[in-house]
Amino acid sequence: MERLRVLGIETSCDETAAAVVENGDTILSNVVSSQIALHAPYGGVFPELASRAHLEAIGPVVEQALAEAHVGWGDLDAIAVTYGPGLPGSLLVGVNYAKGVALARGLPLVPVNHLEGHVYVHWLKTGAPGAADGGLEFPVLVLIVSGGHTDLVLMRGHGQYEVLGSTLDDAAGEAFDKVARMLHLSYPGGPAIEQAAATGNPNAYDLPRARLQGTYNFSFSGLKTAVLRLVQPYGDKLRPRVVADLAASFQAAVTEVLAEKTAQAAEAFRVRAVLLSGGVSANKALRMAVRARLTVPVYTAPLSLCTDNAAMIAACGTYRFRAGVRAGWELDVEPGLRLA
Ligand code: KG4
Ligand code: ZN
Repeated sequence: MERLRVLGIETSCDETAAAVVENGDTILSNVVSSQIALHAPYGGVFPELASRAHLEAIGPVVEQALAEAHVGWGDLDAIAVTYGPGLPGSLLVGVNYAKGVALARGLPLVPVNHLEGHVYVHWLKTGAPGAADGGLEFPVLVLIVSGGHTDLVLMRGHGQYEVLGSTLDDAAGEAFDKVARMLHLSYPGGPAIEQAAATGNPNAYDLPRARLQGTYNFSFSGLKTAVLRLVQPYGDKLRPRVVADLAASFQAAVTEVLAEKTAQAAEAFRVRAVLLSGGVSANKALRMAVRARLTVPVYTAPLSLCTDNAAMIAACGTYRFRAGVRAGWELDVEPGLRLA
């Protein structure tokens, strides 16, 4: 197969990212400019600030990705850009930048669904422990757990998705972020809760698990409210022991339902492997809980590729480019875009 080099651009939320990927599996560069410090005072992403920060960062981030990959514009075969789902103002920056450079440099433009990007991270060769590094046989089951999404997806082939279940309310990462705020932990909440939970007792509080029997859907709002009720009486006098125990009990409740449904679906659809994707898949308790319930391989990406990045967009874009997918200059953002 001829050698393909694709520049990926990702600006759907609060990371401005650009990467160059060769042949859909080899990372030549992967640059992420995080806005975490900018949004931390708000305990969540402030959309207006995010789009302004993307505008400032996008040019330098793309230039850095090319420089680190030791390639010039002339060495590229295509530009892949996230056009949804995400924050409209943030997506617009990446899509318009990508259109501008594609037009100026005479390169084809490939539209990429951010969620599909999270799936294709498993086709990147990283050599990390637990990584699939490509070589996957279909069907596979993908659990996408991020700040905006919680989807259990059956993938029967490249680009073929069946969403088996989703969250009915909060996304798993959103629940981590909100509970972290209740516990006065830092933003983003996922890593902060994981750290606090390390010294806590996961059985200290008997928190509700929404099982939604007979479906592959999830619900985390009841769990979040239960934590709020336990926290409220303390006011701002939460002791570290209570924080650690609540963090551990909350993490156990979330990971248990995620792992249970994933195992049920993996068995029902006789998949060859399970792929964990998205920011929450960085969570070690989740990885352990899923692996403990499954006999098929469970693949995870290295931490830097679990959260938003452009290498996954370039990898997915390469598959779509090979399949003949191209965007016209009328490409618009689709903030509510879904899989399949
Ligand atoms: O995939 P991602 O970077 O962005 C979205 O597309 O949403 O995911 C970000 C989410 C945040 O909610 C963050 O709290 C969560 O992933 N997260 C974690 C961990 N690291 C990041 N949640 C649980 N445990 C972690 N270690
Ligand atoms: Zn994401």
